[in-house]
Amino acid sequence: MPMFVVTGGAGFIGSNFVRLALAQSPDLRIVNIDLLTYAGNLENLAGVPEDRHTFVRADITDPEAMARAIPPNADALVNFAAETHVDRSILCPLAFVRTNVLGTQVLLEAARARGAKRFLQVSTDEVYGALAPDDPPFTEDHPLAPSSPYAASKAGADLLALAAYRTYGQDVVITRCSNNYGPYQVPEKLIPLMLSNALEDKPLPVYGDGRQVRDWIYTDDHSRAILAAATRGRPGRVYNIGARNERYNIDVVRGILRQLGKPESLIEHVTDRPGHDRRYAIDSRRAQQELGWRPETVFEEGLARTIRWYRDHADWWRRVKDGSYREFYEKWYGGR
Ligand code: NAD
Ligand code: TYD
Repeated sequence: MPMFVVTGGAGFIGSNFVRLALAQSPDLRIVNIDLLTYAGNLENLAGVPEDRHTFVRADITDPEAMARAIPPNADALVNFAAETHVDRSILCPLAFVRTNVLGTQVLLEAARARGAKRFLQVSTDEVYGALAPDDPPFTEDHPLAPSSPYAASKAGADLLALAAYRTYGQDVVITRCSNNYGPYQVPEKLIPLMLSNALEDKPLPVYGDGRQVRDWIYTDDHSRAILAAATRGRPGRVYNIGARNERYNIDVVRGILRQLGKPESLIEHVTDRPGHDRRYAIDSRRAQQELGWRPETVFEEGLARTIRWYRDHADWWRRVKDGSYREFYEKWYGGR
């Protein structure tokens, strides 16, 4: 029976990957390690087959806990666990260095000690920094030039993973993906924040002029790419993952309002994010050629599906928006 260890599998993309991988491979087992921070939610895993999914609550920065939690000889350890929100990284960078840099190093060592056959590091296009309007999309050879503490901590993790490949011959594969959207995303990121605020007739805080560009990919497409890289990727290789859906933020926000039948007067331009990257765009030809993967979801269809999900799952995001989320929202948006 094939077996994967997944970390961060109660978060947005990790839980999507767990559901998708278990559905696609009927004999696969997954051990899912997650600390359940504010971003982790066991509700995201409701309905996954219990006989093939084991959940362990533990911190990836704790070497003893990882030695206990990681079973021997896994086919792959797929590391999703991370602090992931750029705005939080501006308020509290140390948490990002701890989980994203230290945590990845602890996992690399634990994976080696436990005989994991492959280490897949789930990374981001943000490690490349920003593009100018006419630049070609990022290829894997683009220099690392991260802007935010989040992006810098992910770049640090990538470098540690590549160092483990070169120094110890550890089988490491890295995927760098563009901005994801879809069900179960914490409503602090652009699309679910705008959606949930619009559904509650609250202001939609657009940073600066809203003319920043992001390259959007539906979560299922990202999860399928990770599965392909975990099984077919070449050791020591980086694969960019993206769907060539570049959009201005303001157009995404207007599209959401249009689909919900809400007025544009809800848009509120607020002070820009410090160090805000103007544009991301990703060239995923290597992944398409070497992994036999390609994105399948057209942005407008994926967005419509996502909007329906948030409209039908108000209980889910209302619960997430209670509690500690409120404290962050007040700190970040209050007085902007
Ligand atoms: P998320 O914030 O929704 O989930 C992160 C998960 O990691 C949560 O379940 C959380 O509880 C867990 N976690 C955090 N710290 C932990 C720790 N110390 N020990 C164990 N678990 C811990 O994030 P996401 O959007 O699902 O992103 C998953 C991965 O994909 C991250 O590595 C992120 O950098 C990468 N990524 C995300 C995007 C995106 O658009 N969301 C794009 C490219 C890459
Ligand atoms: P985000 O979802 O935080 O992803 P990232 O910064 O990792 O790309 O933000 C996506 C874009 O939306 C980014 O350009 C910042 C912008 N944004 C806003 O304009 N307002 C907001 O309230 C948020 C959270 C993001």
